[in-house]
Amino acid sequence: MGTILSAKNIYKTYKTSSGDVPALRGVSLEVEKGMFYAIIGKSGSGKSTLLHTLSGLDRPTKGEVFINGENLYQYSDEKMAVFRRRYMGFVFQQFNLLDEFNVLNNICMPLKLDQRKVDKQFLEEVTGLLRLEDKLKKYPCELSGGEQQRAAIARCLLARPQIIFADEPTGNLDKKTGEDTLDLLQQCSEQFGQTLIVVTHDLEIARQADVIVHIEDGKIIL
Ligand SMILES: Nc1ncnc2c1ncn2[C@@H]1O[C@H](COP(=O)(O)OP(=O)(O)O)[C@@H](O)[C@H]1O
Ligand SMILES: [Mg+2]
Repeated sequence: MGTILSAKNIYKTYKTSSGDVPALRGVSLEVEKGMFYAIIGKSGSGKSTLLHTLSGLDRPTKGEVFINGENLYQYSDEKMAVFRRRYMGFVFQQFNLLDEFNVLNNICMPLKLDQRKVDKQFLEEVTGLLRLEDKLKKYPCELSGGEQQRAAIARCLLARPQIIFADEPTGNLDKKTGEDTLDLLQQCSEQFGQTLIVVTHDLEIARQADVIVHIEDGKIIL
């Protein structure tokens, strides 16, 4: 299907008061369109940093990232935010729903920020797939963890991203709920032809991926 994302020799060093922290030390990666990637590795190995640099959330210290052949880091921060909203979706461990908005408004938020119309039929399809039909009027605090994460996934899907980045999306869920949530995320991204990149330290989840990327001390281990 071709390459959707290509990372070339990425370095990321955090400058801290107690010195430099080399979080990524020369990572290169080709991501095929429509595939499911799991990034695994120990805590502190650089998984989140890698996800952030691949997705335009944080500039690498050195190296380049190409999305559909476009150099991501040529953009200003403002342009990059627009690019992210158009092409990328995010699912986080903490769900990151807005407490003061109901589920429906949370789900539609990225489209509204981008002044894009909400496709009613697609909204129904997505909320149906994620079993949220009767939760749309509820507020995040009225939902279980699993329901909150399904709402976060719906929010991500509704914007029709080409690539979905998820950082430990099951990290705050019990085992069974986590598996169910990941299955849904996988099924939906497959149905909509999206590329899925999931950071996880759960090897069972990783086993479901098409490709496992193992990272250790800021480097990919083959
Ligand atoms: N904002 C930051 N400032 C300084 N050091 C950081 C920052 N974020 C991560 N690190 C450090 O970079 C390394 C990789 O972290 P991270 O990418 O979060 O790993 P993982 O997601 O695999 O647990 C760790 O040593 C971590 O302490
Ligand atoms: Mg992390």
